[in-house]
Amino acid sequence: MRVLSGIQPTGDLHLGNLLGAILRWVRMQEEAKPGEELLFFLADLHSLSDHIEPARRLANRREMAAALVASGIDPARSILFAQSDVPAHAELCWLLNGTARMGWLNRMTQWKDKAGKNRESASVALFDYPVLQAADILLYQATHVPVGEDQKQHIELTRDIAIKFNNDYDTELFVVPEPFVGAGTAARVMSLRDGSAKMSKSDPSDMSRINLTDDDETIAQKIRKARTDPEPLPADPALLATRPEAKNLVGLMATATGDSETAVLAHFEGQGFGAFKPALADALIALIAPLRTRLTELRTDTGELDRLLATGAARARAIGEPVLEQAYRAVGLR
Ligand code: TYM
Repeated sequence: MRVLSGIQPTGDLHLGNLLGAILRWVRMQEEAKPGEELLFFLADLHSLSDHIEPARRLANRREMAAALVASGIDPARSILFAQSDVPAHAELCWLLNGTARMGWLNRMTQWKDKAGKNRESASVALFDYPVLQAADILLYQATHVPVGEDQKQHIELTRDIAIKFNNDYDTELFVVPEPFVGAGTAARVMSLRDGSAKMSKSDPSDMSRINLTDDDETIAQKIRKARTDPEPLPADPALLATRPEAKNLVGLMATATGDSETAVLAHFEGQGFGAFKPALADALIALIAPLRTRLTELRTDTGELDRLLATGAARARAIGEPVLEQAYRAVGLR
């Protein structure tokens, strides 16, 4: 078993990233058996699909490295690195560009959503991004890729690319990876303002998400103002199916406390959100406050963060470079 996952170092970590990905990575790290490797990286090359000021890009890298360590990724147990420090990602991406098909990429919902109607002016990097993501995964022969549901399609594309490459070049080089998506709300945390949209860094309203850097009062206020409906809470989670905002909040409570949705509802059955919201705010503050405190300590030591990423990159290169060499050989360039 080799676990690998990545996150774009743009803006703050939010509750969707935490529940959908990072806290699950931490759990896999805790449960890993000796000899099982885990790789977690900052997908900083992916940030080239948008224009960002160079100084901001550098600051984002350190900030996200600090946030991952604060959330529990232990650089002694997991390999933590930045994608751009391992050139093999970009090189393998180019080799896989010969395998990936335009039609496959055209079907990616993230491409369709992000490019919108303005495809002609979207960057080539935005279109090719899923091939770089496939390179990220295949370079390390990862077996398990823990992600939120929104990334599942990209992992399925990675599988298609691995299978076609192996077939076309008559090799077994690439391991076909499994997407590893969480259960319930963790798979897809929704916006606090709109139960039909996922919680996202790109939502213009900061009230739509809870950030790792939000203070306790901000968290409480965002939950107080979260959109809900006037109905009391039912006993049966199935009755929340037509109430997306209520379903999201109940799911958040269950995920934050580790209780089942049924147990959460048993406690709040018949009550409205006036009673539920303060309890949810407390549960989220209990989850986030200790991570935020650690982040505040870690982010000031930029020298240590740079050192830590350099060590991680050296370890990642040692695993990835032999695979890249074999890929060059498979296509006949060695
Ligand atoms: P990114 O940076 O958008 O998100 C990082 C992780 O957080 C998850 N996530 C969510 N999960 C549940 N609910 C939400 N509202 C929510 N929002 C985000 C994402 O699913 C993801 O797991 N392309 C990737 C980064 C990447 C990658 C990779 C991941 C690059 N290469 C290789 C895995 C393997 C991305 O943009 O994630």
